[in-house]
Amino acid sequence: MANVIGDEHGITDEQWDELIEKVEPLIPIIMKEIEGYKRHTNITPTRYGLLPTNTELADELMKRAKELKGRYDNLVVLGIGGSALGNIALQTALNPYMYNLNEKVRNGRPRLFVLDNVDPAQLSSFVNQLGDGLKRTLFNVISKSGRTAETAAQFLYIKDKLATECPKEPLANHIIVTTGFEINKEGKIDSTLYKIAKELNLPMLEVLKDVGGRFSVLSAVGLFSAAMCGIEIDELLAGARYIHERVSCENFEENPAAINAAINYHYYKQGKKHSVIMPYAYSLKDMADWYRQLWAESLGKKLDLNEREVWVGPTPVKALGVTDQHSQVQLYREGPNDKLFTFLQVNNFARDVKIGPAPDCTPELGFLAGKKMSILLNNEKKATEYALIESKRPNLTIIFDKVNAYTIGQFIYLYEVTTSFMGALLNIDTYNQPAVELGKEATFALMGKEGYCKFVDMTYKEFAEKIIAATEIDDNYLIKSR
Ligand code: PA5
Repeated sequence: MANVIGDEHGITDEQWDELIEKVEPLIPIIMKEIEGYKRHTNITPTRYGLLPTNTELADELMKRAKELKGRYDNLVVLGIGGSALGNIALQTALNPYMYNLNEKVRNGRPRLFVLDNVDPAQLSSFVNQLGDGLKRTLFNVISKSGRTAETAAQFLYIKDKLATECPKEPLANHIIVTTGFEINKEGKIDSTLYKIAKELNLPMLEVLKDVGGRFSVLSAVGLFSAAMCGIEIDELLAGARYIHERVSCENFEENPAAINAAINYHYYKQGKKHSVIMPYAYSLKDMADWYRQLWAESLGKKLDLNEREVWVGPTPVKALGVTDQHSQVQLYREGPNDKLFTFLQVNNFARDVKIGPAPDCTPELGFLAGKKMSILLNNEKKATEYALIESKRPNLTIIFDKVNAYTIGQFIYLYEVTTSFMGALLNIDTYNQPAVELGKEATFALMGKEGYCKFVDMTYKEFAEKIIAATEIDDNYLIKSR
């Protein structure tokens, strides 16, 4: 606030009052929006607000995970974007660092791998390493739309591998599909993955219609792999329900999502175009990655709801304390004052260690000796916060008393609702991603898909020709090396 970092960069009392006036009326609108109400004809409908109450799904998935315990050594998620980042984030946050390497910790549960790329070197190295272990591996193919090229390619590769390596076993023993589907105008199901899964008799988990990828971690998308790895998914939903109650409060100053969005919106408008999220806990590192997608795809938009060009969106940046103190903080303090910093602080770590005694020859290390490592980490956070304040850099801290499924559920839901508020303040469609769609369709065209591409209103063949013409490199501009 201005009383800490001054009027030029901080929020003054007057500005705070203006923010209350702007944001408070949005509270009931957003709470309806996240349950399917369209606040504007041009907005994509969403219903992610219904996920926290789906306790039946959590029960069913926990039951399934219990039944499957001991049967698989590996669970491999094949998916990308919103169909992978949440799975990774939950695993890093809620299971021990060495989970995959420690059989005792896993206690009959599978290791988790999330392959969110089509890098052939990565994929083949992974499958080679699995070797005979393929027979004790379950693949969870996740695609909300059921038509993402990367996931489809991974799926076809793995399906083929399984058919060769485990010919006697039904594919259903090794693949479970998570997907949504739409009924198109011709009354047919519009999801390639759904059709394949039906044809091959694969077990399927459904994703609720109108829950976009980046808002789907609390659906079957994120919950199945979490349950399989022993995460208390009922607690995740309970945490989200608790925050649902808090963010439903129509009094701005008691509503954490409204406050968080107001701060973020204010600073964005004041020219702090970058939003740095910096957890001081390794377990939250991938939550920052999840947030980065949520923020970027939801808020980076060319058009507002009245179809005027606005080109808005704060650039989300992830950093990790203390690691990035030795990489980014020089820029953060002395570079342009164009960032808002959000620290994530943990008060009580799941595990702690004590720093050993200093040898006699280095009494200068005595100040560390015998102290808890968590004290060092949290003091480093405080030191960075102080250094930023000294440089008049706005920052806020979200405090986790502990990192557990209940608080992670809270954090996820808080940020989802904050994103919805931000979208409304920027007057954009928070839930579409037209810029991503163009790239997806372009890939289809370049890979030789046939037929008509509605997205660009031409055949895939014509589209491919157009892309090639636009990206062809003129030899004169190539820097050649020997
Ligand atoms: O948030 C989104 O909608 C995207 O990032 C998608 O999650 C991503 O493109 C993958 O899509 P799908 O799950 O349909 O394969």
